[in-house]
Amino acid sequence: MARISQRIGAISESATLKVDAKAKALKAAGRPVISFAAGEPDFATPQHIVDAAVAAAQDPKNHRYTPAAGLPELREAIAAKTLRDSSLAVEPSQVIVTNGGKQAVYQAFAALLDPGDEVLVPAPYWTTYPEAIRLAGGVPVEVFAGADQQYLVTVEQLEAARTERTKVLLFVSPSNPTGSVYSPEQTAAIGAWAEEHGLWVISDEIYQNLTYDGVRAASIVEATPALADRTILVNGVAKTYAMTGWRVGWMVGPADAIKAASNLQSHLSSNVSNVSQRAAIAALTGPQDSVAEMRAAFDRRRQLIVAGLNSIPGFETPTPTGAFYVYPDVRGLLGREWAGTTPQTSLELADLILEKAEVAPVPGEAFGPSGYLRFSYAMGDDAISEGVERLRTLFS
Ligand SMILES: Cc1ncc(COP(=O)(O)O)c(C=O)c1O
Repeated sequence: MARISQRIGAISESATLKVDAKAKALKAAGRPVISFAAGEPDFATPQHIVDAAVAAAQDPKNHRYTPAAGLPELREAIAAKTLRDSSLAVEPSQVIVTNGGKQAVYQAFAALLDPGDEVLVPAPYWTTYPEAIRLAGGVPVEVFAGADQQYLVTVEQLEAARTERTKVLLFVSPSNPTGSVYSPEQTAAIGAWAEEHGLWVISDEIYQNLTYDGVRAASIVEATPALADRTILVNGVAKTYAMTGWRVGWMVGPADAIKAASNLQSHLSSNVSNVSQRAAIAALTGPQDSVAEMRAAFDRRRQLIVAGLNSIPGFETPTPTGAFYVYPDVRGLLGREWAGTTPQTSLELADLILEKAEVAPVPGEAFGPSGYLRFSYAMGDDAISEGVERLRTLFS
């Protein structure tokens, strides 16, 4: 008999949090580390949202348990946002407010998967998906797309990976870790293919409002309305409103899936903090100017880091059009000697970069195959420039 559950013991620590923690520990020890690891905006939450939370904390009605699936006003605001941004009309009863998008991801897989069911996971993928799938008894099936195809999988690749056990397609656009965004045509082609084969789709839209160069991330249910009955949308306030610490996300979907997930949540975590839910209402229904301001800052930093990295031989960096990550292909730097070390993998390369340049990217191994690095550019312009210069010095 295993001392620790084999199912839970098999879960690995989040690699992104691990790199960030290592960088922070070095920083605390006095090393001037520049961390590109964190997946969160560096801005403070907009003031009107904080004010709503302060007022909520003062009101005793928020001091009690509330419905597990969320405050009715917030579920209504989320239904309105879903219609606005994903062109999907839903009832508030089709919405569950979760403790961050992360809980929505877990509950979506838990609600759909039986042991052995396969989930197609476009890679590079967000590090949490395979763990959430395995914990629900499912089998993640990676479908890899490299920098040469802007990290975007094709219908042909998905079809080649489909078996009679395939139940779900995971779709995420804009993507973490690559920042890639599927065009409306590509989204429609993938949506039509999923519909044709009777698959469920879990569509993670958490970076939906962070796109650049006039690109719009069309929702897969907008592109293929017939999929609505078999699609769960995952979203949240974390990235759009600089609210990662408030822990408010949500899932939206057909009544049966939402009912199953809601029953699960009622035994798992009950309602999300009412103060945070009131803040989320202010975020979704209040002025949106700060979203545009933050997006403009991210856009400037995106251009800065892409130009900087691409000017260093060995970094092949497609220009991302969404989220706040760049994902250079660094295979050209492997197997060569740098500062007395010869890294063979991107994990070893990231260690070398942290040790010698005091710069912390996340190695590709956290998101799929070796040979890549993820840089988050949700940080000050000066730190980005300084980080890039340190890389240039190391790799020249
Ligand atoms: C692709 C993706 N989905 C979901 C989440 C979950 O975000 P949160 O739980 O902070 O709402 C993240 C956070 O990093 C993410 O990158």
